Amino acid sequence: MIKIGLLGLGTVGSGVYSILEKHSENLKSKIGTGLQIEKILVRDVSRQRDIDFDSGLLTDKAEDILDNPEIHLVVELIGGEEPAYQYILKALNNGKSVVTANKLLIAKYGQELMKLAAEKGVSLYFEASVAGGIPIIRPLRESFAANKIERIYGILNGTTNYILTKMTGEGQDLETALKEAQRLGYAESDPGSDISGADAAYKIAILSSLAYETVIDINDVHIEGIENIEPEDIEIARELGYLIKLLAISKFTADGVDIRVHPAFIPENHPLASVSDAYNAIYLHGDSVGDVMLYGQGAGRLPTASAVVADIIQAGKEIYYGSPDINGDIYKNVHKVMDISQVENSFYLRLQVKDKPGVLAKIAEVLGKNQVSLASVIQKHRQNPVVPIVLVTHQVKEENLQKSIAGFKNIGEIVAVNNIIRVEEL
Ligand code: NAP
Ligand code: HSE
Repeated sequence: MIKIGLLGLGTVGSGVYSILEKHSENLKSKIGTGLQIEKILVRDVSRQRDIDFDSGLLTDKAEDILDNPEIHLVVELIGGEEPAYQYILKALNNGKSVVTANKLLIAKYGQELMKLAAEKGVSLYFEASVAGGIPIIRPLRESFAANKIERIYGILNGTTNYILTKMTGEGQDLETALKEAQRLGYAESDPGSDISGADAAYKIAILSSLAYETVIDINDVHIEGIENIEPEDIEIARELGYLIKLLAISKFTADGVDIRVHPAFIPENHPLASVSDAYNAIYLHGDSVGDVMLYGQGAGRLPTASAVVADIIQAGKEIYYGSPDINGDIYKNVHKVMDISQVENSFYLRLQVKDKPGVLAKIAEVLGKNQVSLASVIQKHRQNPVVPIVLVTHQVKEENLQKSIAGFKNIGEIVAVNNIIRVEEL
């Protein structure tokens, strides 16, 4: 019998509990022995919970699990940095295998935790940390192992994809759509990390680390969120044949790893454009396999629990048969991350200008001086006394675009630069 200590009984923890209950016989036959939840750590043992469970399992003392010699496997579903980090360290140090859905911890401390697990002869699995129910961690480590992964595009945050879908399809505002995403259990306890792009950044950092077998410092990932997306941007994107998605991008280039998270215009006929609601997708290119897209539910109780339980089965087998995960050093290479100023993109710019002759010529002059060439210029309906202008550039280095924006400050007729969004032709 494999004895499990569950840390957390929230959205994902309760999903894991119910799958382990519902499929206990099936899981037993897959592993060769049964799984038993020995204890469950929560913050508040007296809180009413909307699942059927044995409340005698609850504790608010972490040591009941971490120092319990009977427990073989710790499943961390608390989230956040502390105390989750200390709990995982203690579990590994005490010779327990660990399964976690915590992307922040894996993105920040993955190398250290994997090393500790190897030293202690136990396993550490984190399939649910990226893209909820979609298998991507194990495929990157195993199924695509014959490939050099050249690029990854991901829609990796269910909450923001849900919000953008509602803003696009139903004209909802961001706050209303976010409340619904929270009610459905998609958002983080601090939804700021969804909206700001941080959650997706942790995930693309994890995928890039596995794809290129290197450590990606999360501080090197350029991150922008969806806070500034306005209905006008969504509408203009559609007119131009694009959709706006919060895109996580990772490309292996001769100049370093180009890794970033930001809203992007993507062509409306690309497979990623059809990924809506809380669904996630990963579109990657390997030198042997070519293009592959993995699609599924990226957040929510049961989809995420499905990935956690898959890791529990794997870890359970390793505990039962006495063979911990041996995958070598998965962080063995050193690759630098490109500074965003050196990355090339085309850009959409939405400006408000005074309706006077010669304004466009002044804008074109500033752009020309900075080697920014225009693919299109659209003047929208006049809103006296200003006119919204939309510019789409050809491919240009980010630093040249930023110099142009700085140069716009000297053009008195530019009332506002409302938004700048990168255009990814994928
Ligand atoms: P959640 O609903 O907020 O649940 C957190 C659970 O942890 C609760 O049971 C809470 O106890 C317990 N907890 C929190 N802080 C604690 C502390 N200091 N000591 C003891 N227990 C504590 O979170 P969740 O949505 O299930 O997310 C869990 C993890 O899964 C996070 O790392 C998240 O990023 C990841 N994840 C979530 C999803 C998703 O769709 N929700 C998808 C993929 C990955 P109480 O119940 O007493 O408050
Ligand atoms: N808050 C995350 C999301 C949960 O919305 O994608 C899944 O990691």
